[in-house]
Amino acid sequence: MDIAVVKPCGRITGTITVPGDKSISHRVAMMSALASGTSRISGYLRAEDCLNTLKALGALGATIEMLDDEIRITGGKWHAPSGALDMGNSGTGMRLMAGLLAGRSWPTELTGDESLRSRPMGRIKAPLEQMGARLELTGQKGCAPIRITGGKLRAIDYEMPVASAQVKSCVLLAALFADGVTSVMEKAPTRDHTEKAFMQMGVSTEIDGNKISVRGFGAAGPVLRPFDWKVPGDFSSAAFWLAAASIRPGGRIEIKGVGLNARRTAFLDVLRRMGADITTRLENSGKTIEPCGIITVAGTGLRGTTVGGLEIPNIIDELPLVAVLGALAVGQTVISGARELRVKESDRIACMAANLRLLGVELEEKEDGMVINGGGKVCGGVTVESHGDHRIAMAMSILALFAEGPVTVRNIECVLTSYPQFWDHLRSIGADVLTN
Ligand code: S3P
Repeated sequence: MDIAVVKPCGRITGTITVPGDKSISHRVAMMSALASGTSRISGYLRAEDCLNTLKALGALGATIEMLDDEIRITGGKWHAPSGALDMGNSGTGMRLMAGLLAGRSWPTELTGDESLRSRPMGRIKAPLEQMGARLELTGQKGCAPIRITGGKLRAIDYEMPVASAQVKSCVLLAALFADGVTSVMEKAPTRDHTEKAFMQMGVSTEIDGNKISVRGFGAAGPVLRPFDWKVPGDFSSAAFWLAAASIRPGGRIEIKGVGLNARRTAFLDVLRRMGADITTRLENSGKTIEPCGIITVAGTGLRGTTVGGLEIPNIIDELPLVAVLGALAVGQTVISGARELRVKESDRIACMAANLRLLGVELEEKEDGMVINGGGKVCGGVTVESHGDHRIAMAMSILALFAEGPVTVRNIECVLTSYPQFWDHLRSIGADVLTN
């Protein structure tokens, strides 16, 4: 599957159950592989990124069973893998795995696809080397492949130079193998799925404002009991439907079983500021350690807004969609303080700016965001490029629903990394889409 041709769509309605949360799936798989015994995971995201994490854990000694309705992971004695661990497209997979491997006495190599091999890894090398591991970045310009020579780790106090849940989680996972208490100070609150999973599994974790402290178990590594996990639906996948329904007056979409962790849902605040009519209802079940529930959105048409500052880490993956909303909303939308977007699966500022311009949207690209003058016409009959970035491919497909004619999105294979059901779900809300 290489291209999608998305036609303009009049009515946008439906009920969608989005697939499991990507960030949580990575983490619960890793935590389960550390436990002694069998953990059961329902709702695990069966998309390329998280399947690569399972493969890597299998190569390190865990036993993975894929059943129809759950995945079972039995932690084993970890051993050196027989070759490099390929984390595919996933920055989360690579950075968290590096944390888990930093305290091992054997060397390992982590690699990934072209996009992952162009993303900055110096940000995890610095803290892991302070703890006592050695990381050689053997790719170009401080990038993967990463050769890790693990060692005996010491606890550190680490003030993070970037607001990144991946870096935070990498250090916290390495901290499990250190003696003493490791503390990480965040510049701004980022998603806290690792901390929640730690607390659930009995890892001594203290949170004091932006400081997270974890007591390590020493070189032998943590002693964890297995756990039953229920992964909620991914809010970042739900966001596509929330955007589509809120733009079209008369639109209505309900999303079921979706994660509502407050560190992930800033997009709801932004939608509300833009005028959207949204309700949420918590519906936690016993096995969900993360808040989860139903979101309903009724379309109203939107006005421009400003997004920046501390809000950014909690909306980071939805910013391509904010740019789409900005193009369709009346007035100006300003995104700032989002330089991190330049080092995601693609340079998301440059890629979104180029694609929006192709469709006739007026905007100014900034180093750390963009200013969009919305409410103009969105041209049809245009081909846009995903640049191999799943979120760009999906965000542009949502914008295409509101264009004046069909829009072709090229290079859509990448959608399989996070949301294999995306095209079916797009059709289910009323869209006419051709993929081939
Ligand atoms: C993620 C954290 C974010 C996010 C990514 C997933 C995670 O990255 O963009 O899609 O699971 O920890 P950063 O923490 O590097 O900003």
